[in-house]
Amino acid sequence: MFDPVSSTYTYLLADVNDKTAILIDPVIEWAERDKSIIRELGLTLKYAVNTHMHADHITGTGRLKSLLPGCQSAISRTSGAKADIHLNPNDRISFGRHCIRVLPTPGHTEGCVTYVCDEQGCAFTGDALLIRGCGRTDFQGGSAEVLYNSVHKRIFTLPENCRLYPAHDYNGRTMTTVAEEKAFNPRLTKSLNEFVDIMNNLNLPYPKMIDKAVPANKLCGLYEVQEEQKL
Ligand SMILES: [Fe+2]
Repeated sequence: MFDPVSSTYTYLLADVNDKTAILIDPVIEWAERDKSIIRELGLTLKYAVNTHMHADHITGTGRLKSLLPGCQSAISRTSGAKADIHLNPNDRISFGRHCIRVLPTPGHTEGCVTYVCDEQGCAFTGDALLIRGCGRTDFQGGSAEVLYNSVHKRIFTLPENCRLYPAHDYNGRTMTTVAEEKAFNPRLTKSLNEFVDIMNNLNLPYPKMIDKAVPANKLCGLYEVQEEQKL
């Protein structure tokens, strides 16, 4: 699914036999839509997980937990965000006969992970690796050097035909592969020094949503609700 405001992709994965499902990177404004699709397909949402603590939108995990009771939220332990489950490197989140594996890929933020579904030959890279791009590295513990190593040592060593699904795309593209990004990513085909130089000179504006999104995402996206209840 897609959020046109922040250009965020939300991924619904399910086991067609036992009908259990997980959502990756849901967006709060679309929680009702996600619930409808899950219900329509006759699925049970087991986990709502995030690739990292987002700065450009509020996560839907907290709202989905109340819309679909029984669902648990999950995020990496190093993200610093609250969730039912804190994931460590190599942890597995299973749904039916499938699972995704937690591959730490810090650099865009300190707690970024890629979720790898080995058996299906695909991975969900969050903002670590975008299609022909990558996430910025100038806030939330970001580091260009760390990101370069995450992509080269952890994502580029997945099988060449591994399909990669990013958290965002701003140009209408939906997926890529390890081989494509190794060949064509304009930033990550460069040397480490050139990459660091590119990332340090992006001169991007301060993210519009960061002051709202990060405090909310520290609390599963429910910051606003808790604040409103206090009033
Ligand atoms: Fe991000």
